[in-house]
Amino acid sequence: MDARDVTITIREYLLHCAAETETALTGSLPHDWDVPGTLREAMNYSLDAGGKRIRPALVLTAAEAVRGSAADKTSAMPVACAVEYIHTYSLIHDDLPAMDNDDYRRGKPTNHKVFGEAMAILAGDALLTHAFQLVAQAAKNGISAETALSIAEDLAVLAGASGMVGGQAADMLGEQGITSIGELEYIHLHKTSDLIVFSVKSGGRIGGANPRQLELLELYGRNIGLAFQIQDDILDLIGDAEKLGKPTNSDVEQKKVTYPFLIGLDESKALVNRLTEQAKSAIIEADLANPERLLQIADYLVHRDH
Ligand code: IPE
Ligand code: IPE
Ligand code: MG
Ligand code: MG
Ligand code: MG
Repeated sequence: MDARDVTITIREYLLHCAAETETALTGSLPHDWDVPGTLREAMNYSLDAGGKRIRPALVLTAAEAVRGSAADKTSAMPVACAVEYIHTYSLIHDDLPAMDNDDYRRGKPTNHKVFGEAMAILAGDALLTHAFQLVAQAAKNGISAETALSIAEDLAVLAGASGMVGGQAADMLGEQGITSIGELEYIHLHKTSDLIVFSVKSGGRIGGANPRQLELLELYGRNIGLAFQIQDDILDLIGDAEKLGKPTNSDVEQKKVTYPFLIGLDESKALVNRLTEQAKSAIIEADLANPERLLQIADYLVHRDH
């Protein structure tokens, strides 16, 4: 599919990216590896469970936006899979009884409900580790070793203690009545924006972005990432569990500090809109060869219901 084909709606485009990602994910854990059957099953259970695949789509779309040609998709796909591996592991661990204690995810019982807590923890560990092998493999698919190294470093920084894991830790330490709006922004920027920043930045690197374009892609990722998590908080309150594939009111039950809790529903919605406009401004300023799909994704996410 050509991202520049204007007859294809953004919804169709994202579904196509998701389908391509799922095909690539199916073959991404080598079949000939000697892996305990239950561990492999637990990993594949969550990887194959669907999900919007928005982070892989951002890798693929950013690469194409910068380069302006569709050919980059092959080289970007291992990195697109890598971020989905990290994201999927983060969800398995996020749902554990010690964290958010949720029973449904992506329309199915959570990993620990099916495989037990020990195997769910280990499946998460294994997904996290394999992501780095996928990045190394990208270097065999037309990405220079230097670019693959920068991508691996970004992934370690943005998924680790100073990134997603740090955000999740701060989320666990948060308390209603104590956590401030500034602290909540830290939580959301790290637990959610950082993997989205990684997605657009790695796509940018693959597409050959210059340093200024990388900075603006990061700004886009930061803003749509924050908007994405605020929307997630909103949907926890007013969304439809069937459509979401996960329970609503989980945040209320767990007494989580969220944007609607701190600033109210209307102000949260207004903030999602403002952040989306800021994200789009960054893309316009970046002067990319083919920015249209990145602009459309920002708008699409504001109206998402799952
Ligand atoms: C859910 O992410 C967790 C957040 C960071 C908000 P997604 O909403 O992208 O979940 P899937 O991948 O579509 O299931
Ligand atoms: C999850 O945030 C963020 C990560 C998994 C890194 P939430 O806890 O709000 O995500 P959901 O609502 O369970 O999907
Ligand atoms: Mg959580
Ligand atoms: Mg959760
Ligand atoms: Mg949530």
